[in-house]
Amino acid sequence: MSFEKHDIISIRDLSKNEILHILDTAKKIEDNPDSRLLENKMMASLFFEPSTRTRLSFESAMRRLGGEVIGFADPDATSLKKGETLWDTVKMAENYSDIIVIRNPVEGSARLAAEAVDVPVINAGDGANQHPTQTLLDLYTILKEKGTLENLNVGFLGDLNYGRTVHSLVVALSHFNTNMFFISPKALKIPDSYLDELKQKGIQYHEEEDLFKVSRELDVLYVTRIQKERFPDPLEYRKYVGVYIIDRKLLDHIKPELRILHPLPRVDEIHPELDDTEHAVYFDQAKNGIPVRQAILALILGRIK
Ligand code: CP
Repeated sequence: MSFEKHDIISIRDLSKNEILHILDTAKKIEDNPDSRLLENKMMASLFFEPSTRTRLSFESAMRRLGGEVIGFADPDATSLKKGETLWDTVKMAENYSDIIVIRNPVEGSARLAAEAVDVPVINAGDGANQHPTQTLLDLYTILKEKGTLENLNVGFLGDLNYGRTVHSLVVALSHFNTNMFFISPKALKIPDSYLDELKQKGIQYHEEEDLFKVSRELDVLYVTRIQKERFPDPLEYRKYVGVYIIDRKLLDHIKPELRILHPLPRVDEIHPELDDTEHAVYFDQAKNGIPVRQAILALILGRIK
């Protein structure tokens, strides 16, 4: 199996075996990090949209393995402001780096970037479409917490229409015979294209508006925020503010082994009173971004097979 020079634009770019190999590599790196593994490699970090975890963990992952980073977090400080195109911008980044990590609000932008350049491109989130490296760290977290990825009951709560982390994770979990519970208001339900894909693969799923009707069945609850920035109409967004807020009341309606994940940032959908419970793993989940992104970088840059 070789990842060298591969792009990761969608989680669909990876087979089940490739996903498992990345998770296995992440475990090895976490257990035995080599601070020279990415020496003499340069990553371009091009963030056209706000980010805390994805940008900082990619940059930290690269630097902690001896690699270097160039890039920007504010596109207004680049020549885009003068009218340069995305295509030309990534062509420049290609001149100065060995791998490009890109986040952009436009769906399909990472694919366009990959077409423009010969260096590998990693999608760090394109609009409401996909966020494949988040999915890999979500899977790594579930595997660590539950000891398996197979045959789990996984609930997705919140904005399932615009939530790109949900879209990528649903596709990935369809490799693992997951029983999926989609819990959302009707207007924020998961797009039908994902449900059609699950039907075709014979994966069981259920749609529900009331979390408490299904919470006791869940092994994992994946909570998401309402994606304010994706709503075409701010008035529409306001209808769903606070629609799901989980707090200690949830604890009376779950299995003791339930694990709560959230890609973060959270707004108000998980009360901080849950943070110290054994169920809350979202901060560990964010930390897992380091070994998982280190594995992705090392595999694509050809420093690990
Ligand atoms: N999970 C995630 O993508 O977080 P950021 O937007 O902070 O990168």
